[in-house]
Amino acid sequence: MTTSFLPPGAYRPTNDRWGTFSRLAASLPEGSVAVVDRTVAKLHPTLISTLEARKPRAIVQLVGGESAKTFTALEKVLAASLSMPRSGTLLAVGGGTVGDVSTVAAHLLKRGVRLVQVPTTLLAAVDSSLGGKGAVDLTVKGRVVKNPAGVFHYAEEGWLCPEFFSTLSETQVREGSLEAWKMVISLDATLFRRYVRKPPELNKLVKDARGLKERVCTQDPYEHQGLRRVLNFGHTFGHVLESVSRFKLSHGDAVGLGMLLALDVGRLLGVTPEPVAAQAEEALAQGPGVLGRERAAALLGRAPMKDVVTLLNADKKAGAKGELRMVLLTAIGATEVRDVAESSWRALWPAWTKGVRP
Ligand SMILES: NC(=O)c1ccc[n+]([C@@H]2O[C@H](COP(=O)([O-])OP(=O)(O)OC[C@H]3O[C@@H](n4cnc5c(N)ncnc54)[C@H](O)[C@@H]3O)[C@@H](O)[C@H]2O)c1
Ligand SMILES: [Zn+2]
Repeated sequence: MTTSFLPPGAYRPTNDRWGTFSRLAASLPEGSVAVVDRTVAKLHPTLISTLEARKPRAIVQLVGGESAKTFTALEKVLAASLSMPRSGTLLAVGGGTVGDVSTVAAHLLKRGVRLVQVPTTLLAAVDSSLGGKGAVDLTVKGRVVKNPAGVFHYAEEGWLCPEFFSTLSETQVREGSLEAWKMVISLDATLFRRYVRKPPELNKLVKDARGLKERVCTQDPYEHQGLRRVLNFGHTFGHVLESVSRFKLSHGDAVGLGMLLALDVGRLLGVTPEPVAAQAEEALAQGPGVLGRERAAALLGRAPMKDVVTLLNADKKAGAKGELRMVLLTAIGATEVRDVAESSWRALWPAWTKGVRP
């Protein structure tokens, strides 16, 4: 497929390039704008000088984290890019937060400029830097609402530079790995069996997860058909856990525990066969190292039920009658979307708050 006539940001298959940042940056056009995570710039001291050698119009450094996904940060990026021509390139170097705000900026600048994503966290490498989505958060009545203002704007290239992953903490690696394993468990039985025999190297995990996410996005690039829903496996109760922990539990860890709870729901409804659930749970413990059920119990045990219900109802995945629209595993590598009644998941609550497998 030739993509040369596509407007910047329109769907295109991922175009991944692997290598050191200095090698890949040699192809960055002069006059580009780079948005860089400040922590990454500190940890990788040659990053800024490599960019400067490409004579960029601007290098905008942002503090990574949700504070990067604000209108203030977005405005900073847009203001620094004012003189960029429509043919210019916006380069995003950072985790999912820098990637998300840069995606929105690339969509708005001159009604759309070329975007190159350089994911520096594992989560960004396996998930957020492909699939076209970007968003900023809003603060409404003092509460942060995640991602209400978003766009689809596909990156023209993804640069995968393994040197960046070398400075990630064990926790950061686990968070990204859990999202990657989510895709393997729900989409690819062959790969799953291979991973169980021998856990993959990090680069291989990234390549495989990107391939799987791409396979889903290519069928439904703008999320019109609900086909991308499968990527939400583990996210229904994952979001609840993330929220009741007041975001102290990271997204990846929350999704890991959310997958265990989704396996329970699947077993209860007879959708997930017992051996499949047991195999998936064991793999999540042995592979990426999902946190223990006692962690979910501690969080859910303290959460008022009415807050949990409000959170679940507010979840955009809730069905018309207030049932939860959940992705459940039918076999390793296969899923089904089911509307789950409140009485069903409530039946699991006593076990969940004790930290035992129902
Ligand atoms: N667009 C999508 O499709 C999509 C998908 C999933 C998640 N997301 C979004 O992604 C965000 C989470 O992404 P994230 O986990 O990468 O968070 P992040 O961008 O906040 O990065 C996490 C932390 O790691 C630091 N960091 C980045 N690279 C590093 C490196 N190489 N070494 C050491 N530290 C490094 C950052 O400074 C930050 O403190 C959320 O806002 C979420 O909504 C988007
Ligand atoms: Zn996720």
